[in-house]
Amino acid sequence: MFEQIIRINDRGAEIKLNKNNANISLLGLHLVFESNEKKVVCEIDSVNDDVVISHFIGEIIDGKFYNGVIHKPDTNAQIRLMNPEEIEMIIGVKSNTTFTFGISPFYDNKRVYVDINNIFSNHLTILGNSGCGKSYGTARLIQSIFKTEGFLPYKASLIFFDNNGEYISAFENMNRINPNYHFKVITTNMAYDYKKLSMPLWLLGVDDIALLLRATTANQMILIERMIKLARVFSQNDEMTNKFKNHLLAKAMLTILYSNDLPVTKRNNIFGLFNTCKTNELNLEAIVQGAGYTRKFRDCFHVDSNGVFTEGILITEYISSFVHPEFDDYEPKEYNSYSLVDLEKALAFALVSEDWLNNPLTYSDSITLKVKLHTLTISNDAKFFDLPGNVTLDDYLVSILMDNGGKNQILNINLEDIDDSLAKVIVKIFCRMFFEYAKKLQKRGSVPFNIFVEEAHRYIKTGEDIDLLGYNIFDRISKEGRKYGVMLNLISQRPVELSETVMSQCANYLIFKTTHPRDIEYITQMVPYITDEIIEKQKGLQPGYCLAFGSAFKVPTIIHVDIPDPVPNSDNVCITKEWSIER
Ligand SMILES: Nc1ncnc2c1ncn2[C@@H]1O[C@H](COP(=O)(O)OP(=O)(O)O)[C@@H](O)[C@H]1O
Ligand SMILES: [Mg+2]
Repeated sequence: MFEQIIRINDRGAEIKLNKNNANISLLGLHLVFESNEKKVVCEIDSVNDDVVISHFIGEIIDGKFYNGVIHKPDTNAQIRLMNPEEIEMIIGVKSNTTFTFGISPFYDNKRVYVDINNIFSNHLTILGNSGCGKSYGTARLIQSIFKTEGFLPYKASLIFFDNNGEYISAFENMNRINPNYHFKVITTNMAYDYKKLSMPLWLLGVDDIALLLRATTANQMILIERMIKLARVFSQNDEMTNKFKNHLLAKAMLTILYSNDLPVTKRNNIFGLFNTCKTNELNLEAIVQGAGYTRKFRDCFHVDSNGVFTEGILITEYISSFVHPEFDDYEPKEYNSYSLVDLEKALAFALVSEDWLNNPLTYSDSITLKVKLHTLTISNDAKFFDLPGNVTLDDYLVSILMDNGGKNQILNINLEDIDDSLAKVIVKIFCRMFFEYAKKLQKRGSVPFNIFVEEAHRYIKTGEDIDLLGYNIFDRISKEGRKYGVMLNLISQRPVELSETVMSQCANYLIFKTTHPRDIEYITQMVPYITDEIIEKQKGLQPGYCLAFGSAFKVPTIIHVDIPDPVPNSDNVCITKEWSIER
């Protein structure tokens, strides 16, 4: 079929084709140049009349295919199409470590087998225009894993952030494959019959609350830190924490007493403090011992005709007796659950006790934060942070990943009917929780989480949060997550909006047809090892076909992805049906 090599350069080879074969479709097929035990593999790019132009992709050494070509073919090499065994080296073979989710249209529709470990223990990006098969492809990828004979991923934890609930139909009956497989939905949409999303507020750290309240300044970060610390202290009632509360209250009252405010304002501020925190010893009804007489604490604050507190000295002495400098660095070891209202109280306490509102440099930050927190507390969104009970992070994750002792291999976190910015924060908080949990496991990577983010460009953006928090959770997971077993799987039709760091850390890519020039340019820049050939190839793909490349694929391979069964609910609206009326 192939007569001789016309030319060899760094990129590939030109070959003269035997005239009788000029009509055979050769595009995309692989050639082997064989001479002296050396086998070099090329892929055919184009056929011009009787000249075949190809580029090098790898070598076969001792019966194994290796990517990249060190030894160019000899000019007298025998040229032939790959034989079936060699094709299997490229598109994989069925084994107990591989699975299949599609076929190779170039090789007689043979099944493509992919190493399970390689694809699921690395980050993956799935890109392509809208309507090209990303959701179908993702659903099929996962269904195929659960349908793989002899493989029982019972302990898998696949977390889907699914804005439109499109994956529910694809996975809800997975227990028909095996009764031990379970799928669970938690949703923000109150109209659905699924478990409603509810997060434990007290497990949120400073950064989570900062995102939730859309903090913008360093001052607000400091305030949030104080507020959380106070909320934790106020939630505890053991003896040490109680002494600490007295210390805090006493110091706050002294700050108020030594301020330049009028006595009436001071009194109001001190009385106001007791709405946020009080103890058995320090409260308005506490009995204060004077020299030979007693007073209720409340009554010490009468203002006399000279405009001063009648019991000014007694107040100061009494309060000072609760100040113990050794408590300044006290951190309660444990804390109980608290609510948004408790956080509001803690914030109010922090603002008064540290005089944030009287300082022109901190006033505006303080008020903004207070208003944002109050707005959240009285909003409909507050219900997503009102999980009752006192769970730990481990308990919480178990509660969403297990039901009645059975494992939910797929958890669909359905973020419908909420505003985009809240959805974004919820995704970040969950990812932070999974990452934190995985990081503290004694046996590294023993509980892997595979996180799938649909419409990832909405959540995973370049540079976000870095100014305020100093890091972005997705960048961090993309760099460190793999070693702890937290893998990101991003699905997006707008690659330009996706974080550069995250994109470039992915080991595997499934690229469905992408046509927007800016997206193509971005993919070319961001994705390691992508070549012009790959870019050109993906432009001609039909829906359901993707170009798969990365560490799980020997060479960039076009795969016709099997139709998922059942399909996700991602179809376009049928306009002709929806617009028409019956005549
Ligand atoms: N593997 C496939 N084989 C055949 N048709 C497909 C396949 N994947 C997708 N399609 C068709 O393309 C449409 C859009 O697919 P979908 O996965 O929803 O696209 P995307 O998520 O990229 O917007 C589907 O409704 C289906 O008709
Ligand atoms: Mg989709």
